[in-house]
Amino acid sequence: MSAPVPFLDLAGVNGVLREDFEQAFARVLEHGRFINGPEVGAFEAEFADYCQARACVGVANGTDALELILAGLGVGPGDEVIVPANTFIATAEAVCFVGARPRFVDVLPDTLLLDPDATAAAVNSNTAAIIGVHLYGQMVDSDRILEVARRHSLAFIEDAAQAHGARFAGQRAGSVGVAAGFSFYPGKNLGALGDGGAVVTQDQALADKIRRLADHGRSQESRFHHDLRGRNSRLDSVQAAALSLKLRGLDQANTGRVRAWEHYVDRLPAHVRPVARHPKAEAVYHLAIVEVDHRDAVCEALTSAGIGWGLHYKTPCHLDSAYAEFRADPLPVVERAAERILSLPMSPTLSPEQVTRVCEVLDTVRPGPSRGSTE
Ligand SMILES: Cc1ncc(COP(=O)(O)O)c(C=O)c1O
Repeated sequence: MSAPVPFLDLAGVNGVLREDFEQAFARVLEHGRFINGPEVGAFEAEFADYCQARACVGVANGTDALELILAGLGVGPGDEVIVPANTFIATAEAVCFVGARPRFVDVLPDTLLLDPDATAAAVNSNTAAIIGVHLYGQMVDSDRILEVARRHSLAFIEDAAQAHGARFAGQRAGSVGVAAGFSFYPGKNLGALGDGGAVVTQDQALADKIRRLADHGRSQESRFHHDLRGRNSRLDSVQAAALSLKLRGLDQANTGRVRAWEHYVDRLPAHVRPVARHPKAEAVYHLAIVEVDHRDAVCEALTSAGIGWGLHYKTPCHLDSAYAEFRADPLPVVERAAERILSLPMSPTLSPEQVTRVCEVLDTVRPGPSRGSTE
């Protein structure tokens, strides 16, 4: 029996930094500024620089980052926000939490990312913003989405929770929209040791407003006065210290993911089709997505062989019961893909031997009709 292959090797990713973490945490314990300590400002400056952006505001998680961007832009009741139906539910959640309505749009069949033509077709007089989700580690076609946003004077917001370090046409995730929300959930390409998130933007005034919204709406003039209705959503000093350490190794970790993906593409059997990459995109493979016609059988084989797998996402947002009121037209591309996509193991440390092992197991599954297949 071969060794199991975990879906994500978090212990391996964080284990190499154990001593550095311990020293950094000791420094935070020493100065005691657990909130707004020097580590937060330092990380914010480093991450803004990494994203080719002017400003970064650390927040409590990626969902809050999106919600604070929307609130900072004044998006609220009566507004519609275009959201791809293929995303983690948090994207839609953020829209609903500011009182706006998500308008779910279909994705492209090859990359499974937001479809620019469908986006343009969904714009109406209530549309206030487009959230482009850089899913799986690949940025949306930001040239085309930006063009739609500019044509209709809409805000283009990036959901970059799965795309730390990704590029499109040479530009980093976080640098192309009016603002971008990042998640530092532990399993992300840049993951904290708990929850964390950030807003990154070229707009300093928006960053300042979001910082205040995330700190109870405190006035800039007096900390005893509140001139915005805010909330509490801050990145703490311990997480910021860990993130600074991990940011140093992010490019190398992303290279490890790209290599692992290339091994997959070379070795996958013909009945397992890797998701496509746009020629202008430099993807960082947060997830290794493939499509199969007989997913149940594939999952059973992987599980029996001790190989981790995931489904991202099994239920398109517009079909999730909590969002039923926003369901409009059928979205055939995402609905079909949701029955076929499968996430294979992916980690910066995934070795060629492990990829080969996964592909060998995939090769043992003979293609046949899938339960739930539309063919
Ligand atoms: C695409 C996407 N958007 C938003 C989020 C929300 O981030 P968080 O879990 O940090 O709130 C996630 C994280 O899981 C995500 O994958």
